[in-house]
Amino acid sequence: MARPKRRYVCTECGSVATRWQGQCGDCSQWNTLVEDAPETKFAARHDLSSGGRSFAFETLDEPTRPLDRRSTGIREFDRALGGGLVPGSAILMGGEPGIGKSTLLLQASAAIAGAGGDAVYVSGEEATGQIRMRAARLGLSKAPLKLAAATSVRDILTTLGQGGPPDLLIVDSIQTMHSDQIEGAPGTVSQVRASAFELIRYAKETGCALVLVGHVTKDGNIAGPRVLEHMVDTVMSFEGERSHQYRILRSLKNRFGAVDEIGVFAMEGHGLDEVANPSSLFLSGREEPIPGAAVFPALEGTRPVLVEIQALIVRLQSGATPRRAVVGWDSGRLAMLLAVLESRCGLNFSTAEVYLNVAGGYRLADPAADLAVAAALVSALADRPLPGGSVWFGETALSGEVRPVSHASLRQKEAAKLGFSVACGPADAGGDVEGMRYRDVAIITALVDRVMASA
Ligand code: TYD
Ligand code: MG
Repeated sequence: MARPKRRYVCTECGSVATRWQGQCGDCSQWNTLVEDAPETKFAARHDLSSGGRSFAFETLDEPTRPLDRRSTGIREFDRALGGGLVPGSAILMGGEPGIGKSTLLLQASAAIAGAGGDAVYVSGEEATGQIRMRAARLGLSKAPLKLAAATSVRDILTTLGQGGPPDLLIVDSIQTMHSDQIEGAPGTVSQVRASAFELIRYAKETGCALVLVGHVTKDGNIAGPRVLEHMVDTVMSFEGERSHQYRILRSLKNRFGAVDEIGVFAMEGHGLDEVANPSSLFLSGREEPIPGAAVFPALEGTRPVLVEIQALIVRLQSGATPRRAVVGWDSGRLAMLLAVLESRCGLNFSTAEVYLNVAGGYRLADPAADLAVAAALVSALADRPLPGGSVWFGETALSGEVRPVSHASLRQKEAAKLGFSVACGPADAGGDVEGMRYRDVAIITALVDRVMASA
């Protein structure tokens, strides 16, 4: 019999190669290919069209029961999940180390246990003593949570199999789990995949909701193969800057709900607090306008969040390559916007360093941010502040046109509520929002005129 072929899997993108190479052919990452279990070979005559069990097809309009979701006891968490935990579902929660994943999940599982649910928290990272200390700090010591430090999937499933299945099982983290079905150390692609597979199967069979914590790599992907993201029902990411207080829980994939809702938290000395009204969190609170700062009314799902965008332009004397540094926004998008400003408005950024920062550790994903970023850049370049009390929104096309964006009036209403008086955005987006004057910026050159006119 021929020897089964070796396979190599990329830990970044999950693509499969038949021989090892230094760089993944699909995602171009270096040193990410690792050997995987060999592919099973079937005989050439293997025929799958008989010998199986046949099944009946169903129609789309058969009555189904609505999902009975279970509240996590934390409203912002429920909101990000699309309304609570779905029994039998598997959730992968990623986030940088120290961002607060374990804290959030300990709070949620203790809340479920406190409300009469059966919640299990298994940690492969911390000793039970450490978790107890955290629980004491969070004031949760009395919650009837079942706590364990374990890394063997067999041990975990054996233990759970002796009682009834819990309502919620938290596994912190999947990279520390080990399945004896597969060789290799915990954290390797095949171990992560096999352990997740067993745990997810348990969740599906018993109806217990499963939350797997996943480490993220430097560039923000969940470590281990992308495959893990395909295996679970929901992928969430817990984001924020460790040096800032605010944290955002975002769902990136959700088989049971929309992915556009976020949960907002503040990390306090006694754990994570919910922030029910986040719209003003990311503003600087400064009275006097300064050059290079623009306020953007962002939308997260149905929630408006006002954020300040800050730009700094430093002219270079020497011919060195100027730096472009971005925190909280897409650097490719910044390059595009700079190119549009250069070619459509005749501005010159090529001999200047450009720094862009979104205040408060917020990460902007809303495409409507283009105009606010452009306004901050032009204001910084001209060294003139934008008109006081103004907010900016609109998507910029390569032609320099400013395109309409979703929910323009919702953005303006929230800005008006927080005391802003002028909204600048695409043509035809101005509604009659009380207390708010609307200024058309149909084309990016109009922005430059407006900034130059203010002073
Ligand atoms: P943790 O939940 O351990 O993060 P993760 O599991 O994502 O790695 O959070 C650790 C950080 O949170 C730690 O740096 C201290 C901080 N923290 C607080 O500020 N207040 C608290 O009440 C707790 C429990 C943690
Ligand atoms: Mg942790």
